[in-house]
Amino acid sequence: MFKTSSQNLARMRYDRMAFLYDFIEAPLERFRFAGWRARLRDRISGRTALEAGVGTGKNTPYYPDGVKIIAIDLSPRMLKRAHKKVVHDHPSVELLEMDAQQLAFPDNSFDTVFGTFVFCSVPDPVAGLRELRRVCKPDGRLLLLEHMRPESSFAGMIFDLLNPIVVRMVGANINRRTVENIRTAGWHIQVEEKLSADIVRWIEAV
Ligand SMILES: C[S@@+](CC[C@H](N)C(=O)[O-])C[C@H]1O[C@@H](n2cnc3c(N)ncnc32)[C@H](O)[C@@H]1O
Repeated sequence: MFKTSSQNLARMRYDRMAFLYDFIEAPLERFRFAGWRARLRDRISGRTALEAGVGTGKNTPYYPDGVKIIAIDLSPRMLKRAHKKVVHDHPSVELLEMDAQQLAFPDNSFDTVFGTFVFCSVPDPVAGLRELRRVCKPDGRLLLLEHMRPESSFAGMIFDLLNPIVVRMVGANINRRTVENIRTAGWHIQVEEKLSADIVRWIEAV
């Protein structure tokens, strides 16, 4: 059971969005996101991996064979949609309703922890990133594909102004300082690649 109102709000927003999510994102998915997601196939490694905020399961086509994957999300309705894709693409994947800020796994459980477009919506992103660090093995790796606040002060200000509207409509914050949050959570960034201006980035950290 989720306790705080920010958790309930995030869950409520994604439950509400679930039936439209794939439809709304279809054009971006086709022309940009799918190519970026495909990196996961080569970069998820080890015996076990955790996906935080699996959503409707858009990464499942890129899960590599031979890695035991557990995927979690706060929203039961997003998970229900992910279930259909998992059954089709990777029946061995375990889907669980769980909060990334309070993971129910022991320390050092996973070789790879990963997420795509998730830390824009986790209510306390630093808490979620700390939890991923806790459950990641010391020689494990964090993989993230995330959108974030642009560095230019003018563009950043526009994103700050628009954020309250966007977050109410779709649940995602467009002005998160995700690189700083990753570092604050104790990760050391090894790869930071700007994919779409400096807004969408591929990040690998240890
Ligand atoms: C923008 S969607 C991205 C979904 C998917 N990763 C993708 O690439 O399409 C964000 C997802 O994060 C989930 N989420 C938000 N806060 C969460 C939390 N604290 N714990 C787990 N999942 C969370 C939402 O329910 C939603 O499914």
